[in-house]
Amino acid sequence: MKFQVPRGTRDILPPDSERWAEMEEQARRILGSYGYREVRTPIFEATELFVRGVGESTDIVRKELYTFQDRKGRSLTLRPEGTAPLVRAYLESAPLRQETPARLSYLGPMFRYERPQAGRYRQFWQIGAELLGSKEPTADAEMIDLFVSIMRAVGLPNVKVLLNSLGDGACRPVYREQVRDYFGRHLDRLCEDDRERFTSNPLRILDCKIPACQPVLAGAPSVLDALCDDCRSHFAAVQEALRLLGIEVEVAPRLVRGLDYYTRTVFEVHASNLGAQSAVGGGGRYDQLVQELGGSETPSIGFSIGTDRLLLATGTARPEAALAEPDAYIVARQPEAATEALTAARALRGILDPGEGRPLRVMTDVQGRSASSQMKVASRVGARHVVFVPRDAEGFAVRDMVLGKDEMKQPDLDTLRTWLRARRAAGGGSR
Ligand code: HAM
Repeated sequence: MKFQVPRGTRDILPPDSERWAEMEEQARRILGSYGYREVRTPIFEATELFVRGVGESTDIVRKELYTFQDRKGRSLTLRPEGTAPLVRAYLESAPLRQETPARLSYLGPMFRYERPQAGRYRQFWQIGAELLGSKEPTADAEMIDLFVSIMRAVGLPNVKVLLNSLGDGACRPVYREQVRDYFGRHLDRLCEDDRERFTSNPLRILDCKIPACQPVLAGAPSVLDALCDDCRSHFAAVQEALRLLGIEVEVAPRLVRGLDYYTRTVFEVHASNLGAQSAVGGGGRYDQLVQELGGSETPSIGFSIGTDRLLLATGTARPEAALAEPDAYIVARQPEAATEALTAARALRGILDPGEGRPLRVMTDVQGRSASSQMKVASRVGARHVVFVPRDAEGFAVRDMVLGKDEMKQPDLDTLRTWLRARRAAGGGSR
């Protein structure tokens, strides 16, 4: 029997996995610099959390949940997104609730039963940030600024930010009726999916990408004309704050997003080289969600970045040579020296030395190969130096594999480690 990775999932292999880790590290650094602290929630939650949180009429809840029963018959669901779980965790934690606002982040896999295609998977990863407890437009601006900063840090300085307002409990129902009324008069010119949305969630029709539906969509009433005074001034203040921050946005009155919890500001960030699935991430304000999940009034805003798409957008550039190629490969001259090779390798990495920064990358043979085969492996893996053990009266022997030259006289391990470190810092021996 031959096993295959399940449909819609994939393995993240080196060097992508290394690039992936690098991106997560950069994102964590930026999140930390804005004061966002990480929360790790379980991969599965009570199904009801998503039905209530994400919304019964959304595609996610209607068609895409991975739901199962545990041995006691409880209905559980693999999380399709991170916001509802984070709000649940917030409501369960008194210390988090005391922070006003609470700035929180998360990072991990999400699951949606979607039709797989490039940039769309059934298990995908998100990096998310949520700011709970502020209704101010400055919070919206901080969020979008944070998103853009993460994009810059990972090497995507030219993303497009789409911005819209969906109104609130006062003006959105009125707008929804206008939209229902309008599409009701043009149902025959809409696609099958749109006709289904007409009953379940008419605002989602605005997001339809089918070319044949576009003429009808173009004539639909704009949400921006329907905003109440409070929503209108909030939206204007968000745009003004972003202008002062130097962040260019495109107002997109048809941006509606696929989750039900949004109020007022919604946004998406697109990268030009992603094809059909061009949204690297998105988010918005959800002023009612905390209450809907059992908390007190806590206006909030957040976003999630799709890590898979981030990787696609930034390209699978070869990771820094320093990450992939060993600084040294230890070659045991005789089989009896294999254990000494392990000991020397551990000492040379400098793992326990405080203040030495990232340990050196040092590898050794565990296949019982001859010394000459070990040399071949060392050069295949791109090792910059080879260190021969056992040491003789002269100390360890070292060869620079790039220059093909023997180096260092009578080094002990400490001297050797310091020397290798200096070599790495200087980029010496790098190919
Ligand atoms: P979302 O727009 O559903 O929002 O997802 C955010 C991002 O996750 C998308 O822009 C995309 O990059 C990525 N993504 C979504 N589905 C897939 C998929 N099937 N395969 C690959 N990537 C995907 C949310 O999830 C909200 N929780 C965002 C949010 C946070 N709103 C407020 N706070």
